[in-house]
Amino acid sequence: MDWSMVDQLVQKWLVEARGRILTSLQQRLTIESKSNANDLVTNIDRETEQFFIEKVKDHFPNHRLLGEEGFGDDVQTLEGIVWIVDPIDGTMNFVHQQRNFAISIGIYEEGVGKLGYIYDVMNDELYHAENGKGAFYNGEQLPILQPVELKEAIVGLNTTWVVPNKRVNHERLIPIVKQARGTRSYGSAALEMAYIAVDTLDAYITMRLSPWDFAAGMVILKELGGICTNLEGKPLSLTDSSPVVVARPGLHDELMNIINR
Ligand code: IPD
Ligand code: CA
Ligand code: CA
Ligand code: CA
Repeated sequence: MDWSMVDQLVQKWLVEARGRILTSLQQRLTIESKSNANDLVTNIDRETEQFFIEKVKDHFPNHRLLGEEGFGDDVQTLEGIVWIVDPIDGTMNFVHQQRNFAISIGIYEEGVGKLGYIYDVMNDELYHAENGKGAFYNGEQLPILQPVELKEAIVGLNTTWVVPNKRVNHERLIPIVKQARGTRSYGSAALEMAYIAVDTLDAYITMRLSPWDFAAGMVILKELGGICTNLEGKPLSLTDSSPVVVARPGLHDELMNIINR
């Protein structure tokens, strides 16, 4: 596969998708709920996913696409080339704020991340990476992430997980909140991973993400030495949802020790 050719196409499609999203914001959105009242989806989530499916099928008919909104293929394994697409990551932000959302695309070949894109649509900021060639912010190569200690770290963490909840013993996370320099919650998993790439955040912890939330971020952070695992420190599966701990080197070990103490 000529990955630089694919890269050029994806970057072109992202700009096109951005144009469509900006236009759509001048029209009335159709907003629906999915699994619960706060799990939103709009016509633009669906249209953006369909836009990428059309492009991928036109250019690469033998590639498969796993998309959050379900218009793609029924992907159970990572054989061949698989595009993992979240058309809008941060739909709640999209609906309520009309900003702080991203298009997230990870492209994998036989399970190996080849290209990753997180596109902050409203700020026109692209975080992307090509396997073995490095990671970039708006085309500028990013430096390798340096270790940091929790006491000097800003950790992305949603308050949902530090009150009693069904997914984690919240008490395991309290020392992280207490010891960190600060915590933040941006409402877009993809952007929170991108922020680690550019040192805006040092870690991101959440109890449930799906492959389309982290597929792109994993490709980008791998190029920079960032570490992405589940709560046990094991690699994330791209066919299942999972808790996710993403951090700079050093900090990831410190977080693991606290969580699994
Ligand atoms: C959601 C966002 C959010 C995270 C949720 C995701 P969506 O994605 O990334 O920050 O906390 O777990 O589902 O639904 O807006 O694409
Ligand atoms: Ca969603
Ligand atoms: Ca998402
Ligand atoms: Ca989404």
